[in-house]
Amino acid sequence: MNMLELIEKKRDGGVLTENEIQFFVDGVTDKSIPDYQISAFLMAVLWRGMTDEETTQLTLAMSRSGEICDLSAIPGIKVDKHSTGGVGDKVTPILLPIVSSFGIPCVKLSGRGLGFTGGTIDKFESIEGFRTSIDPSEFPGKIQKCGMLLGGQTEGLATCDKYLYALRDVTGTVPSIPLIASSIMSKKIAGGADAIVLDITCGSGAFMKDQASARELARQMIAIGKLAGKPVSCVLTSMEQPLGDRVGNILEMQEVFDALSGKALADVEEVVLAMASEMLRHTDVGKDKSSDELIDMCREKLNNGEALAKFQELILSQGGQLDSSGSPIFVDEPFEVMKDYATDDGYVTRCDALSVGEASCLLGAGRMEKTDVIDMGAGIRLYKKVGDPVKRGDPLYSLYTGSKNVVGEERIDEALYKMESAFAIGKEPASKIVDVIDVIS
Ligand code: URA
Repeated sequence: MNMLELIEKKRDGGVLTENEIQFFVDGVTDKSIPDYQISAFLMAVLWRGMTDEETTQLTLAMSRSGEICDLSAIPGIKVDKHSTGGVGDKVTPILLPIVSSFGIPCVKLSGRGLGFTGGTIDKFESIEGFRTSIDPSEFPGKIQKCGMLLGGQTEGLATCDKYLYALRDVTGTVPSIPLIASSIMSKKIAGGADAIVLDITCGSGAFMKDQASARELARQMIAIGKLAGKPVSCVLTSMEQPLGDRVGNILEMQEVFDALSGKALADVEEVVLAMASEMLRHTDVGKDKSSDELIDMCREKLNNGEALAKFQELILSQGGQLDSSGSPIFVDEPFEVMKDYATDDGYVTRCDALSVGEASCLLGAGRMEKTDVIDMGAGIRLYKKVGDPVKRGDPLYSLYTGSKNVVGEERIDEALYKMESAFAIGKEPASKIVDVIDVIS
């Protein structure tokens, strides 16, 4: 077998065998295939696609290319969740305590943010003392103590994906559905989950810009799950505008605390409850219940303080600090550098997620390069969202930096310019965005 034959076979629309795919993954992982051949192969996959069987074989081979996280010492069904990324996505820190408060063990391995999408690990690290590097040997003990844990994805998980993803990033081959599906699912399978719930975001601030591609990604991930023996369900959610009203690490964790204290915004609550109820469905707690019953059960945990208590327990269990009122102590404080106002009466017709994410990044809340240091206090607070009526002079949004304002005036001006282009206000009433588009399992 040689790599040139594989490239030509895929280029001509052929279907690769399990052995051929294993040969490719082995060659990427042990670096015996040169980058130019890997890149040509990735481009052939982007154009020709893959059958579900090929995508599954690629996923399984990638999941075996590094460490495998063995969670079998933790009793019960372990359900993992993953989001394909978004702006203002603070679902995990609200959802985990809800699910955990039903006694379901939750092990969540999360990533850092890159570009305009934020990462859950960065958000938790905005809490003073919170430790996210947890060795897998500590998992059973932590789960026994607190019922859940939140850790950084170890470097060794799905090694092949790390290398492929870096090459895809610089060869224009990121937007291939089989490559995205196998990349995500290989890490989830290597992470040791028994069942997986995916939040597939769709819209300007997401990888999937339209519903048709989001549905196709969901279909492929469910097919991989079926062939790999891991139940998968997908919640399709809108990412046309940011989720909730805050974007940025500390700002979002403050919103999380508010949501867990019974003050969740409607869009955040809807997405969190849809995801949490799908997670429960894979366990003994939820398997015989209807969606409506499960959503009500999860809402109850959000409103009766049990989820908040679990969140506080998680923070303490991983070394984080709480003040005397039970609120997290953060490493810095968001500092408002400017506020912008509506210049006309009307209705918000657009609050573009991508532009808000990019503006937040310009303020220092995200990384342009993997090695950039994040300003935890930076970000944006929105006062209006699509469909809201506005009067001239109403505040639309505020820009924040951390107390040290590391980015400087020029970047703040650029961020303001981005935010001005993110918003559109029209004369006619505009419909609210549908936040949960569909649930597919
Ligand atoms: N997230 C991943 O982990 N991989 C992709 O290819 C896209 C999003």
